[in-house]
Amino acid sequence: MVFKNSIDLYKKALNLIPGGVNSPVRAFKSVNREAPIFVKKGQGARIYDEDNNEYIDYICSWGPLILGHNHPKVIEEVKKIIENGSSYGLPTKYEVDLAELIVEIVPSIEKVRLTTSGTEATMSAVRLARAYTGRNKILKFEGCYHGHSDALLVKSGSGLLTDGYQDSNGITDGVLKDTLTLGFGDLEKVENLLRNEEIACIIVEPIPANMGLIETHKEFLQGLRRITEETKTVLIFDEVISGFRLALGGAQEFFGITPDLTTLGKIIGGGYPVGAFGGKREIMDLVAPVGRVYHAGTLSGNPIASKAGFATISYLKENPNIYKELAENTNYLVDNVEKLAEKYGVDVCVNSMGSLFTIFFVDLEKVENLEDSLKANTENFSIYFNTMLDNGIVVPPSQFEAHFLSIAHTKKELDRTLEVMEMAFKKIGEKNAK
Ligand SMILES: Cc1ncc(COP(=O)(O)O)c(C=O)c1O
Repeated sequence: MVFKNSIDLYKKALNLIPGGVNSPVRAFKSVNREAPIFVKKGQGARIYDEDNNEYIDYICSWGPLILGHNHPKVIEEVKKIIENGSSYGLPTKYEVDLAELIVEIVPSIEKVRLTTSGTEATMSAVRLARAYTGRNKILKFEGCYHGHSDALLVKSGSGLLTDGYQDSNGITDGVLKDTLTLGFGDLEKVENLLRNEEIACIIVEPIPANMGLIETHKEFLQGLRRITEETKTVLIFDEVISGFRLALGGAQEFFGITPDLTTLGKIIGGGYPVGAFGGKREIMDLVAPVGRVYHAGTLSGNPIASKAGFATISYLKENPNIYKELAENTNYLVDNVEKLAEKYGVDVCVNSMGSLFTIFFVDLEKVENLEDSLKANTENFSIYFNTMLDNGIVVPPSQFEAHFLSIAHTKKELDRTLEVMEMAFKKIGEKNAK
C-alpha cells in the first residue's frame, strides 16, 4: 500500500496545526506510524484515504456511525434541509423533534438541552449538579474520559492515556482540588468518601470505553445509585458513547438503573457535531433561561445535526433487532480473536459489550480498571495496529480505546478482518518466540 498523499498532507499539517491533527489520537503517535491516514470518504463499513486505499473501519468516527458511513436514510434526511440554510441562532423544529425522541427513549431524561459536543455536555452537567446541590467537589473514576473541560481532565483516559499521561497541564490548583478520583469498581471507597465528604456529583461512564473497554459489573452501578441517593449526591451517567449504542435507551436501560442526569453525544448527531445533557425536570429547570446555570452555544442544537441525529435514532428505534445483531457480530469476532490468540500463543484479554470491544495485549484473566489496563503490552498492540492498517483494516490507534462496530459490518467484513487479525497474531507470536 502507498501512503504518499497522506504523508505529504501530514507534513504540511505539522507546520499548521499542533501535531498535525485536531484531536491527539488521530496522530497515530503511540503506534509508531510515520503519518496518520487522511480520509477522503466513507461508505458503509469502509473508508478511503487520499491515496485511494480502501479500509474496513472499526473507528466509525469514535462512535457516532452506528449505521455506518453515509447511511442512505441519514443522507436523505440531511439533504432535505441542507439547502435551506445552515444555522440561524434561533430555534428550529428539528431541535424539538430530536429532544422529543431523546425524552421518549432515554429513561432518566425528562428534559434535555442540546450542545455542540460531548465535552460541553459533561461540563454543563457538572456545573448543574454543583448548582443543584450547593456543593463543590465532584468524583470521577480513574481512566474514564469525559471530554476536555478543566474539572474532568484529571486521571483521564482516551488520548491522554494513549500518549502516556493522565492529567493535563494548564489547570489551576483550585480546580484540581475539587475533582476527586477513585479506581473504577471500588464501591467501598466510594461509600467511604460520600459518607465523609459533601460531593456534588459522581460522573461515570457506565461502561468505560476510554481506558480500553471495561465490562462493568451491574452491582457497581447499583451501588453508586444507592449511595448517591442516600447522600443526596447527583449521579451523572456519561453516555456519550453508550447512549443508543449498548441499547436504544443506553446503559441505563441495559442495566435498569436510572441516573439523575445523563450526558449524550456521538450517535445523537448521526455524524454531525452534537451533544446533550438531560435528566430530572427539577434539576434541568435550573438551566438558563429558566434558572441561572448558564449554558449557551452559537451552534447548539444545529438543525443539520439535529436532523441527522433524529434520522439515526429513528432508524434504530424502527429496527430494534439491530442491537442483537451487533452483539452477535461482535461476539463472532471476539470468540475468534480468542482462538487466534491461543493458536499463536499471544496473551490477550478481550473485553466486549454490545458492539464495542478491546483486545488488551496482557496476561490477565480480566481487565477491570485502569491499573489493569496499564499493564497491557503496547508494543504488541502496535504490531497489531500496523498489520491491520497495512492490510486494509483501520482499528483505533491506541490500546486504550474500543473498536466500534456498525450495522454495515457484515459477515464479509468480519471474515476479512479475522484473516488479517490472524496475520497480526502470527507476527506477535513469532516475535514472542524469539
Ligand atoms: C464518554 C465520553 N464523554 C465525553 C466525551 C467528549 O465528547 P466530545 O469529543 O464530543 O467532546 C467523549 C469523547 O470521546 C467520551 O467518550
